[in-house]
Amino acid sequence: MRLLVTGGAGFIGSNFVLRVLDQRPDWAVTVLDAMTYAANPETLQPVADRVRVIEGSITDADLVDGLVAEHDVVVHFAAESHNDNSLDDPWPFVDTNVIGTFRILEAVRRHGTRLHHISTDEVYGDLALEDPARFTEATPVNPSSPYSATKASADLLVRAWIRSFAIRATLSNCSNNYGPRQHVEKFIPRQITGILEGVRPKLYGSGANVRDWIHVDDHNDAVIAVIERGRLGGTYLIGADGETSNRDVIAILLELTGKPADWYDHVDDRPGHDLRYAIDSSKLRAETGWEPRYRDLRAGLADTIDWYRANESWWRAAKLDAERTYARLGR
Ligand code: NAD
Ligand code: DAU
Repeated sequence: MRLLVTGGAGFIGSNFVLRVLDQRPDWAVTVLDAMTYAANPETLQPVADRVRVIEGSITDADLVDGLVAEHDVVVHFAAESHNDNSLDDPWPFVDTNVIGTFRILEAVRRHGTRLHHISTDEVYGDLALEDPARFTEATPVNPSSPYSATKASADLLVRAWIRSFAIRATLSNCSNNYGPRQHVEKFIPRQITGILEGVRPKLYGSGANVRDWIHVDDHNDAVIAVIERGRLGGTYLIGADGETSNRDVIAILLELTGKPADWYDHVDDRPGHDLRYAIDSSKLRAETGWEPRYRDLRAGLADTIDWYRANESWWRAAKLDAERTYARLGR
């Protein structure tokens, strides 16, 4: 099987590529990535002889058309992914997440290539803290931020192309990922690398906000399961029952790194900050047999801390840039 992986030099996409090479060695992988600030081409260096890497944008219709024609499946991870950036400058989010997805859809329509579209639980908006409800495939979209609005727009385009043009596609909406190779602008790696540098963690607002954490390898195993066993036209929610408040995540990180429990600061809240996400992934589990392997967030975070400790050269330059941006945003 020939796979075209968009965004394969970013966090989840690069972990996906490494996982596929390991778990499905007979699949041939091409990466299409614009190598934005969020990519780290170093990640794919050790497998350079097994992966074809094309630097280019999913908004480039001719480039996308030619590549889609040569592959059996497109796994579409490429996106602008950070909420804080979308509040600062929404345009790249509209361009990549909406226009870029449109380009991919038109190409798969022309060439009959199978598409798996990667999306997020944030398209469903947020839930109240004490609400027992969780998101399901039937939850109406109700995005809050420019980022999640562009992801919801992309999802709607994919669904319309399935219905109107009978493209062969599946979608998945996953909760918050953690693990190795995540950009240091994101919550967990920002705090881990800060602690390693002697900087106190920064909690937005009260820190009561809840995210449903899943290890990136569990996400990617679910994506492989949907590619192999998902029903065409279907949407699958991916989650590993990992609901944890931001305050509790900080508490675990401080404990694992031997810092005092009160060694963190509250900073200004993110405008429009979603309160809680929670995923019901029963459909995925029932239809594909997928189950998460990482069930202990503390153990997963301990491994993640070890990875950032051992790979400072991977994150050092990005850390300087990310903290410059946060200083400008006042967070
Ligand atoms: P990331 O920001 O780490 O990586 C995104 C990658 O896309 C980067 O390599 C970047 O260079 C590339 N890219 C950006 N614009 C591009 C363009 N125009 N053309 C080609 N490549 C481009 O993001 P991530 O966290 O790995 O997220 C990957 C996907 O998973 C996104 O679609 C995101 O919405 C979705 N998702 C993320 C999470 C999460 O917790 N991080 C959870 C659920 C879903
Ligand atoms: O739910 C899936 C989504 O998870 C993905 O679609 C997004 O691409 C991904 O970035 C992530 O979005 P969040 O906004 O939830 O992730 P982020 O890592 O930015 O923040 C996680 C939580 O931590 C959120 O409640 C904001 C808070 N936060 C974040 C940072 C960077 C802090 O308290 N302090 C911080 O320094």
